[in-house]
Parts: sequence; structure tokens; C-alpha cells
Amino acid sequence: MTDTKKSIHGEWSSRFAFILAAAGSAVGLGNIWKFPYITGENGGGAFVLVYLACVLLIGIPIMMAETMLGRRGKQSPINTINALVEEAGADKSWHYLGWMGVIAGFLILSYYSVIAGWASAYAFKAFIGSFVNADATEIREIFDDFIASPMQLIFWHSLFMVATMLVVVRGVNKGLEKAVYFLMPALFILLILLVGYAMTTDNYYQGIKFLFSPDFSKLTGDSVLIAMGQAFFTLSIGMGAIMVYGAYLPKDVSIAKTAFLIAGTDTVAALLAGIAIFPIVFANGLEPSGGPSLIFQALPIAFGNMTGGWLFGVLFFVMLVFAALKSSISLIEPAVAWLVEHKGMNREKACIWSGLAAWLLGFGTIFSFNIWSGFKIFDRTIFQLLDYLTANLMLPIGGFFIAVFAGWIIKQQHSEQELQMPDAQSYQVWRFLVRYVSPAAVFFIFLHVVGVL
Ligand code: TRP
Repeated sequence: MTDTKKSIHGEWSSRFAFILAAAGSAVGLGNIWKFPYITGENGGGAFVLVYLACVLLIGIPIMMAETMLGRRGKQSPINTINALVEEAGADKSWHYLGWMGVIAGFLILSYYSVIAGWASAYAFKAFIGSFVNADATEIREIFDDFIASPMQLIFWHSLFMVATMLVVVRGVNKGLEKAVYFLMPALFILLILLVGYAMTTDNYYQGIKFLFSPDFSKLTGDSVLIAMGQAFFTLSIGMGAIMVYGAYLPKDVSIAKTAFLIAGTDTVAALLAGIAIFPIVFANGLEPSGGPSLIFQALPIAFGNMTGGWLFGVLFFVMLVFAALKSSISLIEPAVAWLVEHKGMNREKACIWSGLAAWLLGFGTIFSFNIWSGFKIFDRTIFQLLDYLTANLMLPIGGFFIAVFAGWIIKQQHSEQELQMPDAQSYQVWRFLVRYVSPAAVFFIFLHVVGVL
């Protein structure tokens, strides 16, 4: 592999463009929709603390490892892993790692698009004034009616999937760069405005306390696993999305700095979402453990009753759709890049096939909220099963092997050269983390869940 090699899919125009795209992939429904509801289901503070520890000790080192592998391989994750396996003279079974990532990406996109469809429908509902002066009961009815209708869910899911494919066809590094440039700041401004509103409710302090005062008696083995899964999910790591973005990264960029910046941005976004939502939840007598509908129940009440709420509501849900869009494109890019490289397909064809597959799979999630809601495997609906399988199992397992691959298989000289850390000590810290700390943490959390520890 020569240093002059570039990705055939293009390159980011600058370090900043990569940061925007990677942070754009990280900040999405995972922060604004998923983080609040799983925090609510898992008792608050203690769960948040475990999640933050996972981001720091597992997430950031693995994000650096993924970026580094991608930049060295310069191809889709499947071919990057294959090329690096060859370079290191490693065992061929490592090839499965790239494959598992592509499959995880598909599975996640299939339900991600359904939820992004909810956000799109809510942007529309906000626009036509459905939430104006509505109380908690009315908002609940709007939600229940909505998810009871497969046709409506299919419509919005399809719309979102088409939008994702339209962006991916153009190539993630064209057009997208500019879009993220204004989307990220706009999203943060809206979140801060919402926090401002939450402060005016009587339950602001209760919300803060729920999020930040840990009660470890509420922490079960499964919540620890969910917290770790969330660290992977929210940072977009463990399946090759950051790896494929790393492949488009120019040589001279500091991977460590960018990883901290991306993880920091992502964490702030999640915490802001939590700070905004829980006071509203408590102020309106909603259950924090209300599940995936939490933000769709809580936020419309706020928009329906605050001054300028119509405008904020529309802006917020539109922003949420765009936030989801910059994430969803990274879920499918590894598959598309591979089809282009390996099958010699053009980008259009590769997008249509992968989009179609994820779209069809999405029906499983859609029906799990209505006509198949009684259909359960291992006590979980299809949506719950897909979510558990991907976020809590496939991503951590993928991350485990990415860490082992980067720490033990790749030659030290190569990772050192690729990471270009400012000094030898910080490189050693990273190496220690990916060799020992991150894999061991994942491993022990798994043992804990199956009851061995
Ligand atoms: N991180 C995104 C979010 O928080 C979702 C996402 C995008 C993702 N790409 C990913 C999750 C890759 C896991 C792996 O909404």
C-alpha cells in the first residue's frame, strides 16, 4: 500500500469537512430520540454515568482505531479489512469483520429510516398546526393513531429512504459537506432553545436530578449492556461507518483530535436533549420509561404551549429529519462502496439495490408497532429485537474485534505512522486502551449479562 493512494470514491476537501461529516453521522436520532428514552427506561443518572464512561474508555479509542484503519485501507470496510489482513499476513477469517459491519448497517438503517419517518410525519403535523394548544392526552392520541396505521408509516419510511438514497448517489463528500455545515449549528441552537423552555417549567430541577444524580440500585446487568450499546450506536462505531469515512480522509489530519471533537460534540448533543426533555416529561405527568414514543409525546406538548411554538416545532422536527439523514447515509455507505468496488456497479445501481433491501426490511419494524405488535421472539417485537441485536450485540462485538485488529494484528509501526500522535506517550496510551481496556470492558460486560460475573 503506497502513501499516495487515494480512495476511488473521492476525498474530503479538508480536515474540517471530515469532522463535520463524522460528527454529522454521530449526532442523529441516537442522541435526540434514543438517548432520552433508554435513559428513562434504565433509571437515569447511573445509566448516564456508565454511558459516559463507555464513550471515554471504549468509544474514543475505537473511533480512532476505525478512522486509522480506514485511512490506511482507503476502501470500503470489507476491502479495507481484506487489504490490511494481507498487509499484516493475518488469518483470513478476519474478513468476516467487514461483512458483519455491512450487515449491521443494513439492519440498523431498516429501523432507523422508520423512526426518521416518524420525525418527518411530525414535521408535517407541526406544520399543519396539529399540536397548537393540544394537551398531553390529545398528543398521545395523535401518536397512537399515527403508529396504528401501517400505510402512514410506510409512506414516511419510503420518503426518508428515497431521500437517503438521493444523497448517497451523489457521493457522501459532495453536497453533504455543505449541508452539514449549517445543519449542525442549527440543531444545537434549537436544542439550547428547548433547554431554555425546559428551565421555565416547574420540574426543571427534577429533570436534571433524574439525569445526573446516580442511583446505582437501578442499574441492572442489562442496563450496563444497553449503556455500552448506546455508546457504540451514538458514535456510529463498530460497523465500519467511521472506517469508510476515514477512507476519504486526507493524510495529514490528526486522528486523535478529530475523535475527541466528534465524541465531545455527540455527547453534548445527547445531554442537551436529555436536559430539554425530562423536565417536560415530568411537568406533564408523562412516564420517563415511556419507550420509543417519549420525545414524540413530550416535545409536541411543549411546542403546543410555548410562545412561538408552531415555528419552533416545525423547525425542530425538520432539523431532526436532516440530522437523521446525515446519519443514515453513513449506515449504507459501506455497502454501497463495496458494491462499487467489488461488483463493479455504478453508484446509482449500488444505491438502488442497497436502499431497496433496507427499505423492505423496514416493514418488519413498521408492522411491529401495529399489526404484528403481538408477534414476539425472545419476548421482543421485531423492532426491539433488531435494536437489541444491532446496538447491544453486533456493534460491541464488531468494536471488540476492531480494537483487537488495530491493537494486536496491525504492525505497531503502521498504526503509529497512521495515527501521527503529537508524542510517543499519547500513542502508548491509545495502544494500551485498544489492546487491553476496550476489549476487556466489552468482554466483561458480556460476561456480566450472561450472568457469569
Ligand atoms: N450515530 C447515529 C445516531 O446517533 C446512528 C448511526 C449512524 C450509526 N451511523 C452509524 C450507528 C453506524 C451505528 C453505526 O443517530
